[in-house]
Amino acid sequence: MTVDLRSDTLTRPTPEMRRAMAEAEVGDDVYGEDPTVLALQRRVAELFGHEDALFTPTGSMANVLAVASLVAAGQEVLCEASAHIARAELGAHGAITGLTMRTWRHPRGQVDLDAIAEMYAPDMGPFFVRTTGVSVENTHNFAGGAVLPIDDLRALRAWADSVGVSVHLDGARIWNAHVATGVPLAEYGACVDVLSVCLSKGLGAPVGSLMVGSSAAVAEARVRRKRMGGGMRQVGILAAAGSYALDHHLERLADDHAHARLLAEACGLDPATVDTNIVVVPRDDAADFVAGARAGGVLVAPVGPRAVRLVTHLDVSREQAEQAAAVLRRL
Ligand SMILES: Cc1ncc(COP(=O)(O)O)c(C=O)c1O
Repeated sequence: MTVDLRSDTLTRPTPEMRRAMAEAEVGDDVYGEDPTVLALQRRVAELFGHEDALFTPTGSMANVLAVASLVAAGQEVLCEASAHIARAELGAHGAITGLTMRTWRHPRGQVDLDAIAEMYAPDMGPFFVRTTGVSVENTHNFAGGAVLPIDDLRALRAWADSVGVSVHLDGARIWNAHVATGVPLAEYGACVDVLSVCLSKGLGAPVGSLMVGSSAAVAEARVRRKRMGGGMRQVGILAAAGSYALDHHLERLADDHAHARLLAEACGLDPATVDTNIVVVPRDDAADFVAGARAGGVLVAPVGPRAVRLVTHLDVSREQAEQAAAVLRRL
């Protein structure tokens, strides 16, 4: 049986999740009348200690709405150089919002407060682009699922308050950070003005993300979402999958993390360097490694010519992780 380690977005809804979706109570969500969506939004806002939340089809849309609530056209957001918002959203923040970005570089995607403080540009009237937001990603996808320590986020919050800048968190995998560290979701929420979270990664829902923030930011995002074509109707069918995932698939992320460490060890890496469910394996022969793994029934993704990425998720059992580890160990 093939073990697919290319991404945690590949999961398929379980029969129980499908049942929850089929039985969901629904209404027209553009009218604000879908009870399942409303309940999910309320629940997620409360989990992070924020006032409100907005259901979106994708994490990319949640990020665009979230960052746009902090940074206007002609202003800039600072982020790490391999952040998803900078590398993988196809320029949406510039193209749609009209903001610019400058980046600091960290091999593990971490907060570098010295670099941020040095780049920060206050309002200089008609002379320079003004920094109005800083964005961080936890866990950090392209940095191999690295967790950002809560103390670094608290320090960023304190610095941001001292200069009057807002903070965005791309929390597509904040669930993994929470399970790996035990830090309550609300403590992550307290460090930022606005965040995005995804239900369709490790949690295993087929679709769905949320932007989380103040009532005012969410009200504005609701208008922007509609403008972008993201006003959905009886979408409680999808929100029900997210609620089901939060009920049943959150704590089990610890299994994914253990499986990732097993795979890292099989690839000759120190498992202690793997924080969550993503393993980046440096390989000069990345293409051959991918082909060799495929021949052994294991799908892995190249990250450029010299690295390979393995991601564990709901559809990889312990037995499959062990099977994949045996194949990868031989390579
Ligand atoms: C860190 C991070 N943020 C945002 C996204 C965007 O999510 P979506 O694919 O739902 O647009 C992803 C997708 O993999 C991601 O890894």
